[in-house]
Amino acid sequence: MAAFLDSVPISGIIRIRDMMYTVDKPFRLDQGDVSFDAPPSVKEALLKAVHDNRTHYLPTNGVPRLLELLAEKLRRQNHLPVNGPEEIMVTTGGIHAQFLACQAVLEPGDEVLVPNPCWPPTMSIVMTSHGVPVPYTLHAERAWRPDIAEMRSKVTSRTKAIVINTPSNPTGGVLTRADLEAIAAIAVEKNLWVLADEAYEDLQWDGEHFSIGSLPGMYDRTIPLHTFSKTYAMTGLRLGYLAIKDKTVRMRAHKMLLYTASNISSIVQFGGIGALEGPQDFVQQFRTELFARRQLFLDGIAANANGVLSGALPAGAFYAFVKIDPNWKSPMAGAQASLSWAMTEYLIKQGRVGCIPGVDFGSNGEGYIRLCFARERTELVGALGAIKNLLGQRAEGKGQR
Ligand SMILES: Cc1ncc(COP(=O)(O)O)c(C=O)c1O
Repeated sequence: MAAFLDSVPISGIIRIRDMMYTVDKPFRLDQGDVSFDAPPSVKEALLKAVHDNRTHYLPTNGVPRLLELLAEKLRRQNHLPVNGPEEIMVTTGGIHAQFLACQAVLEPGDEVLVPNPCWPPTMSIVMTSHGVPVPYTLHAERAWRPDIAEMRSKVTSRTKAIVINTPSNPTGGVLTRADLEAIAAIAVEKNLWVLADEAYEDLQWDGEHFSIGSLPGMYDRTIPLHTFSKTYAMTGLRLGYLAIKDKTVRMRAHKMLLYTASNISSIVQFGGIGALEGPQDFVQQFRTELFARRQLFLDGIAANANGVLSGALPAGAFYAFVKIDPNWKSPMAGAQASLSWAMTEYLIKQGRVGCIPGVDFGSNGEGYIRLCFARERTELVGALGAIKNLLGQRAEGKGQR
């Protein structure tokens, strides 16, 4: 097991983070963290939990009140036919929920269809569970949605599960209800699990988020994967959750939860109760502000990057996944052969602008970079100014520095 882990990659996002530490006054558009702080309802619940001495062991799956609230949320908001709190487990963020799901479902050598581009940990988690990630293409010209016939053609006798992520990190693409129905039909026909990563469920800009597990019969074979990180600005607190209907598979996930964590931090779980019981207008305020920043940032790219970078408004999440003009050449000596890495290094080293090379999300991300627009407006404006200095000069005939 130990040597096997040597072949599991660590995302380039970590390399970028290290690079950013060498930059003076950086614009941190590289990481997927929001600039907001957790709402008062969360902070008060955390503090109250400390004062109430909620510092002891808990049931492995989670505090009963939190499990009740989550079962109710999944029924009300996601329209899943969850039978009760016993089907829910709370995890150390969404990443841990994905890990438990893969560990519970996969046998060694099982294939898992994963989007390309994809949030990098998804592929690595499949691999740490001895599975084999099989990419299916998200097409830029289809607003980053898959071609369902092509997806179906990737299914083999070894396929065990399909991962979907809507809204998507990094593309911001959103699966339509028709896409989800077609994917559900494949899952039923081929007897597959669906691992539904819904981390950005509350950050969909075009239409309403729709959960595949709410389609008739689909909750039986879907593991919905959720997190408090993005919705409640709780990235560092590490609180996620999943639901599993099947008792056998649920018991496997329960054992992985038990042996990796015993239980998730008690204080954090009470913070989660505060988030769900408290007023929800903060979520709406975050959404309204992010909606405005999306427009500000994509307008800024159009105005300042001079066509070297271009991209449409994403339908969901808080990333601009922008295309690099294929004719662009980095003026830096020894620039990398990968266009997305060359642009990333140029923007970071010459412009202090953090971003992630698209190729880090899979081969279909080559030629793109990802920039997070969930940062403060001043930081976004600063980054846009730096981009203008670096790339905007080409049209004015001044050449690049
Ligand atoms: C697509 C996707 N899924 C899941 C997560 C998990 O987030 P966390 O582990 O912070 O809850 C993230 C975080 O960036 C993400 O982008």
